[in-house]
Amino acid sequence: RGKRAFIAGVADDQGFGWAIAKALAAAGAEILLGTWVPALNIFETSLRKGKFDESRLLPNGSLFEIAKVYPLDAVYDTPDDVPDDVKSNKRYAVATGWTVKEVAESVKNDYGSIDILVHSLANGPEVTKPLLDTSRKGYLAAISASSYSYVSLLKYFSPFMNPGGSSISLTYLASEKTIPGYGGGMSSAKAALESDTRVLAFEVGRKYKIRVNTISAGPLRSRAAKAIGFIDDMINYSTANAPLQKELDSDEVGYSAAFLASPLASAITGTVLYVDNGLHTMGVAV
Ligand code: NAI
Repeated sequence: RGKRAFIAGVADDQGFGWAIAKALAAAGAEILLGTWVPALNIFETSLRKGKFDESRLLPNGSLFEIAKVYPLDAVYDTPDDVPDDVKSNKRYAVATGWTVKEVAESVKNDYGSIDILVHSLANGPEVTKPLLDTSRKGYLAAISASSYSYVSLLKYFSPFMNPGGSSISLTYLASEKTIPGYGGGMSSAKAALESDTRVLAFEVGRKYKIRVNTISAGPLRSRAAKAIGFIDDMINYSTANAPLQKELDSDEVGYSAAFLASPLASAITGTVLYVDNGLHTMGVAV
């Protein structure tokens, strides 16, 4: 039986989520996506119009299929959590049932079970501000969208994940080393995500026999990264200083995620896997 994957955090073909979906599809998995509600229309339209066809091309010459796209906003767990101004916002009125609990219920109703859960989303409204200048509201929003969203996804999805299943998130070196420019509490959010990876690995490992790992990825020119503002500097820094002096390709993260999701990684859980050309090993710029 082929595996089924739900990948949260895909709204174009530029980010890690897309690359992971593609690598899992190439390995034979059925692909379900969770797309941020405000980005849903443009993503589905672009998909339908063939804008992503070139990047949908698999090594075997076919285009990878997306079985279903679910609208999702991972900062809300249940309809009761959604504030009135969001409920009435026309960017949110395009869809229904997009809180985490509701999406999980829809996936369960549509497909019964999944094998692979991927969290490839983050948001920090004050990411361009130094931590010292970050408001409490901005800090908590970063943690809510980037860290708790993963706790919530696992809480609602793991009960219908098949034993032996695998869950993966994406983290960044700024959790453990100071990277000026990655502000707004995003460094804190990634530290929480990595710590939660260990605790959740224990909890869902014991309860459901599911593995939980996170990939610490090198810099990629995704939509989210461009919004931070210093992505070109980070890519140049990595190319100059990492053991492997090449630009990271999102497919390299996709393949690593496919490995972690596969039986080849059946004893790996609770870990941070660096897919960053080795940059994290360096203590000085050379
Ligand atoms: P991306 O822009 O492709 O992905 C981020 C996605 O999160 C977007 O599709 C966005 O619509 C979605 N999103 C934001 N708030 C959401 C919410 N409340 N509910 C549902 N979806 C929401 O960018 P990228 O860079 O591929 O990001 C994926 C993951 O990789 C993130 O966790 C990011 O922190 C991480 N990462 C990125 C690096 C980079 O250099 N691009 C480096 C290391 C980690």
